[in-house]
Amino acid sequence: MELSQIFAAFQQDALAAISSATTAEAIEQVRIEFLGKKQGKLKDLQSNLSKVPPEQRPEVGKRFNEVKDAVTYALEERQQQLIKTKVVASAIDVTLPGVRPLTGKLHPLTQTINEFQEIMSRFGFEVEDGPEIEDEYHNFVALNIPDDHPARDPLDNFYLATAGVAGAGIAGAGGGPRLLRSQTSTIQIRTMENRKPPIRIVSVGRVYRPDEIDDTHHLMFHQMEGLMVGPDVTMASLKTVLRLFAAAYLGEDVHVRFRPSFFPFTEPSVEFDVQRGDGWLELGGAGMVDPNVLRAVGYDPDEVSGFAFGLGIARFCMMRHGIKNIRHFYSNDLRFLQQF
Ligand code: DAH
Repeated sequence: MELSQIFAAFQQDALAAISSATTAEAIEQVRIEFLGKKQGKLKDLQSNLSKVPPEQRPEVGKRFNEVKDAVTYALEERQQQLIKTKVVASAIDVTLPGVRPLTGKLHPLTQTINEFQEIMSRFGFEVEDGPEIEDEYHNFVALNIPDDHPARDPLDNFYLATAGVAGAGIAGAGGGPRLLRSQTSTIQIRTMENRKPPIRIVSVGRVYRPDEIDDTHHLMFHQMEGLMVGPDVTMASLKTVLRLFAAAYLGEDVHVRFRPSFFPFTEPSVEFDVQRGDGWLELGGAGMVDPNVLRAVGYDPDEVSGFAFGLGIARFCMMRHGIKNIRHFYSNDLRFLQQF
């Protein structure tokens, strides 16, 4: 047989053996048989080279290397394939149902806030924001809450230790004590200070009160404040907006009611309830902006009127989803959070 035929036969045999090897062990046997350092067939092939006349050696040598490279390459590739299949086969049972990857989610309160803002923006309300660290002027004084009002009791508020330090430089106009805001009504003042009517805004954020923690109360909770000011804003506007809002979030068949109440910054004032089973759930306060509040921000109560409301966010979310305990929102328990 001519040398070129011997080379070709070697290559053909080797490639056939490589492609018919189906396990890592089998391909190792093929490697030993053809490429093994001691007795591999490639070694026999190489021994032929010494018999070739010197002038033909470069060409035959080149051919030998080609065959060797082709076989080595095919063998390594097959080895890789078989290793991969082996790993895959031992790691995954393809007949099992898949495992759904964990994806992140927005916190249920964040989802509620986004939805509230979306609903209110459909009614033409813009979103405003304001600081959580407040001065007494915005949290109380401008809201017509007098010095001796129980809501101002230091024990019912989180006053900051930096209170009254000159140049503490946190939120707001006034110097004097700072506190974590106890209500989002502060935003009414901040908005009216900076804008002229007509105004239609909502603001959603955290408020803080040193309450006893129970199933429906926490030291920190979320409110949505609403404010509408203009030439003809009436109690009817207020009731319409709140009813439409409740229907948009809780469903068209929702029943709401308004009870007379009192807040220093509204006159008249109401409390806003939603029917739940046999009873009613208090969702927040509202009313017509008190003329004193309008005057405090430089508006003329003879020219404009306004309504305002403040709703607890968590209560709505708890009502929709049947959540019984407000602590769940703050416990970082994935079993709870992943349901939303
Ligand atoms: N700020 C009140 C609270 O935290 C809620 C409230 C009542 C807000 C009446 C208002 C309002 O804007 O008009 O209890």
